[in-house]
Amino acid sequence: MDVHGLTPDRQLNLVDFPVGADLFLLVKNALQRMEQGQLLEVIGSGIEIKDDLRSWCRLNRHSLVMAMDAGDHYRFLIRNNPVKALEQPDWGIKLPLRKDGRLDIRDWFQGRVGELREQAPAYVGFVPRGAVAEPGVPDFGFSLNQKDDVWSNNLLDLYEQAKEKQWNATTDIAWDELPELPEEMEWAVCQIMTFLAENEYSALYIPAKFMARINPHYIEALMYLSTLIQDESRHIEAFTKRALAGGGGLQYSSALTERSLHSLFIQEDYFKSSFLLHVLGEGTFLDLLTFIEEHAPDPVTRQIVTLAKIDEGRHVAYGIGHVRHIIETHPGMVQALVDAANERNEYLGAADAGENSHLMEALAILAGGGRTPEQLKTGFERVRRLKDVMYEHRVQRLLQIGLTPDIAAAISKTHTPNFM
Ligand SMILES: [Fe+2]
Ligand SMILES: [Fe+2]
Repeated sequence: MDVHGLTPDRQLNLVDFPVGADLFLLVKNALQRMEQGQLLEVIGSGIEIKDDLRSWCRLNRHSLVMAMDAGDHYRFLIRNNPVKALEQPDWGIKLPLRKDGRLDIRDWFQGRVGELREQAPAYVGFVPRGAVAEPGVPDFGFSLNQKDDVWSNNLLDLYEQAKEKQWNATTDIAWDELPELPEEMEWAVCQIMTFLAENEYSALYIPAKFMARINPHYIEALMYLSTLIQDESRHIEAFTKRALAGGGGLQYSSALTERSLHSLFIQEDYFKSSFLLHVLGEGTFLDLLTFIEEHAPDPVTRQIVTLAKIDEGRHVAYGIGHVRHIIETHPGMVQALVDAANERNEYLGAADAGENSHLMEALAILAGGGRTPEQLKTGFERVRRLKDVMYEHRVQRLLQIGLTPDIAAAISKTHTPNFM
């Protein structure tokens, strides 16, 4: 429609719509979705609309270009003159489906959603990446605002895998197949489960502590970490249940374990924390879980550690991917890793750190098959070999993230005797 030589870009027909807050909301939204300088034609009725719309335009700095009395209705032309024009949201981009109708998160990086920046935009709030934000979003104070801070190239694959591999500690474990074990063996399992559960608390709390600091521009990192958090809570559940299921119960916690976990918990740098927890701690735990799996005296214990180990594999893969990427792009960051390991070692007090003696005894009973002197001898020998394997595998993981053999060996050597 052409009104006195002016062609409206958009029309809003509000005849018989009451003049009031809702009407102005519709006008405001229509203008926000238009380009700066475009013309909106508003058709309305009711005598008060003339004055009210004029005042509203003045207040909101839009220009009322024309007001026409057409008898039973009014026509107004408003030139969109926002303080700052809103960007245009996407429209018309359909996500591709995979076979079987799957909609995979790896495929949602389309249009504006696909604009993943190296540095997150400031004042982003909880505006989903891809949506158009009105001005005036408050500063939420996120501190992890760079892609490198949290991203890993395998993040999206791990997220899809994690969802597929979730299991239920209530129904997926053959609890009814738990046999009555000799008392010393049941005690060893209960002691080991106590230790595992305790360490899982740290694996749950530490990433959770950082999650609220991550800029929502990198929402996929939060989504992945939420699967990790779910894994850890399930591990706590399964290990605790195993300790209780056979009538033994939770056993001893050592001060060394708590000191070790505290030294992880107080780390405020996500890069260092990710390295200490996912690469060194959970990496070492993979070997511990393999050892328990190998020597498990009953099918329930074996099944739990087997399932937990698959989950831990994803956590370690995230840590290795994340840390390796930073080392590749910022080689100077190697020093931060050396410092992180040293700081922790100093905190633990290398001289009198000792070991978790209850755990060592339990592992020896498990691996030796009982607590006769002969069995204990064999058991302790196997535990010693486990520590060698842990050391070797730690070195391999450190080489994998790009450290030199010297640094890898030095860091592996100073790793906490608590394993995590
Ligand atoms: Fe875990
Ligand atoms: Fe984990």
